[in-house]
Amino acid sequence: MSLPPASSFSLVVLISGEGSNLQAIRDHIAAGELPAQIAAVISNRSQAPGLLRAQQAGITTQVLEKNLYPDPNAYDRALLAIIDQYRPALVVLAGFMRILTDDFVRHYSGRLINIHPSLLPKYKGLHTHQRALQAADSEHGASVHFVTPELDSGPVILQAKVPILPGDDAEKLRQRVQQVEHRLYPEALRLLATGRVQLLGATVYLDGQPLLRPPVST
Ligand code: GRF
Repeated sequence: MSLPPASSFSLVVLISGEGSNLQAIRDHIAAGELPAQIAAVISNRSQAPGLLRAQQAGITTQVLEKNLYPDPNAYDRALLAIIDQYRPALVVLAGFMRILTDDFVRHYSGRLINIHPSLLPKYKGLHTHQRALQAADSEHGASVHFVTPELDSGPVILQAKVPILPGDDAEKLRQRVQQVEHRLYPEALRLLATGRVQLLGATVYLDGQPLLRPPVST
């Protein structure tokens, strides 16, 4: 049996928690559905359960504890130095609970992406599920976007909608949104890894055409 050729599109994935999105990305790679490789997983919490998932999958892990450098600029410089050792094509934020400094974000311009649990530009920041319920929205969802200095405001690559159902609470909704995230993030990564999506200036291009509205997968 011959193994598929190793992909040169390498990812560094940053996590702080469960790492269920990391797991989904890794599973899509292992299934041959995403032509990429995870060079390393880096966490700002040594207790992040996602580290164990990565180790069990044989992926290199590193921890840079969030309290190690009280100065955010010093922390981000140290983080950047670790990441750049792996020369990633893309830096993937997957539940990385930290607001990154402008210098860090600019260093990875066009190569830094995030998944956010809302239909951006709605509900930037935290507690998105609760806020969607409080607003009596009929639908919620997730967005994969390029990261720019302003929080959760970078150009969106792909979105997925989730209906809000009678009887939903924030936890039920969070779980259904996360199920959708687990196919949305690998799908967005495939578009990037195959060169179909690019960021030029502030505009996302899909197959060479400017993306006026992000595609919504259902
Ligand atoms: C995800 O739900 C994502 O939307 C948000 O953080 C969560 C991380 O979950 N940015 P996990 O660590 O991937 O399970």
